[in-house]
Amino acid sequence: MSQEEDKVEAVRTAFNQEFESFAKLDLTGLSLDSAREMMRQLGDLKVRHSGKKSAIAGTMKLIGQVPPEGRGAFGQLVQSVEREIVSALEMAEQTIKGFITDAEIERDQLDVTLPGRRVRTGHLHPITILRQHIEDVFVSMGYSIEDDREIETDYYNFDALNIPEGHPARESQDTFYTTQGFALRSQTSTVQIRAMERRGVPIRIIAPGKVYRRDTPDMTHVPMFHQIEGLCVDKGITMAHLKGTINEWVRRMFGEKTVTRMRPSYFPFTEPSAEFDYSCFKCNSTGIFEGERCRPCKGSGWIELGGSGMVHPNVLRGCGVDPQVYSGFAFGFGLERMCALMYSIDDIRLMFDNDVRFLEQFK
Ligand code: DAH
Repeated sequence: MSQEEDKVEAVRTAFNQEFESFAKLDLTGLSLDSAREMMRQLGDLKVRHSGKKSAIAGTMKLIGQVPPEGRGAFGQLVQSVEREIVSALEMAEQTIKGFITDAEIERDQLDVTLPGRRVRTGHLHPITILRQHIEDVFVSMGYSIEDDREIETDYYNFDALNIPEGHPARESQDTFYTTQGFALRSQTSTVQIRAMERRGVPIRIIAPGKVYRRDTPDMTHVPMFHQIEGLCVDKGITMAHLKGTINEWVRRMFGEKTVTRMRPSYFPFTEPSAEFDYSCFKCNSTGIFEGERCRPCKGSGWIELGGSGMVHPNVLRGCGVDPQVYSGFAFGFGLERMCALMYSIDDIRLMFDNDVRFLEQFK
């Protein structure tokens, strides 16, 4: 073998050595990143072993040194080695390129059959739904909605409502006190006083809000619950207005046929006072539902709703209103019991557990 042919052989051997790792490509299990790195290495190899500045291109220049009779064969040798190198590089390049394309497609694949992510829409709490419903009814009757503080002084929670120190009514409405002598209001009746002080009379308001009592939670008691207070003061207001207002309200809540009844009662801030009931929405006041004792009214046909009465002259006077000129009625009731009866909820604590599985039922 001539010296020149030796050089060509050396170039081929050098290439084969470097190319060894690409010679029998098995890319199975390779990561996309590794494949890209391999492609980069191959590109490096390509620059060095093919093209104008490569070793094989250099051997072309040897043709002139080969004796004329051997030139043809030498030229063919160089060309065949060059083709060998180029095609080896090309094949490896194709393989890796194909692998990368496949891996990219795999990576970017979108499985349109996967279940979507459900958007969970929120909704109002059942107590809020009920409160808003009641507010709508009273607003349509010309009442405005009064919002006020939950932390009160003894004066607004008791004294101004004609419940002086030592009065037994304070006992039954024991609440939570702060160390600075404030109390969490035990009734929304406080807003009667605040509203009259703020707006004067005549006045027509309802005051929904949270109230607090020192009760141990059980199926029918929670230490925080909701009340709605009503107050109407004007010239010539009588008990008939009270009865008519409550009647209209329950009719709009529970249907045309609903009626109310009043039972004499006692509250320090009203005189006379009455508790009011409405005819049971479930059994139409018969006390029997589907052949059995009706549950919401316990078979009585009536459901207790709240307390009411004519605003006590002491209360009016305390707010600077002359009871000789003005008279008014007030009422108050709780929302939890009403809500529980309407939705057949046995345990009112459920309303405050915040378990969405429970709350979701009242959308
Ligand atoms: N504040 C009373 C309570 O919590 C309810 C009540 C009774 C409110 C009679 C009134 C009323 O306005 O006139 O038990």
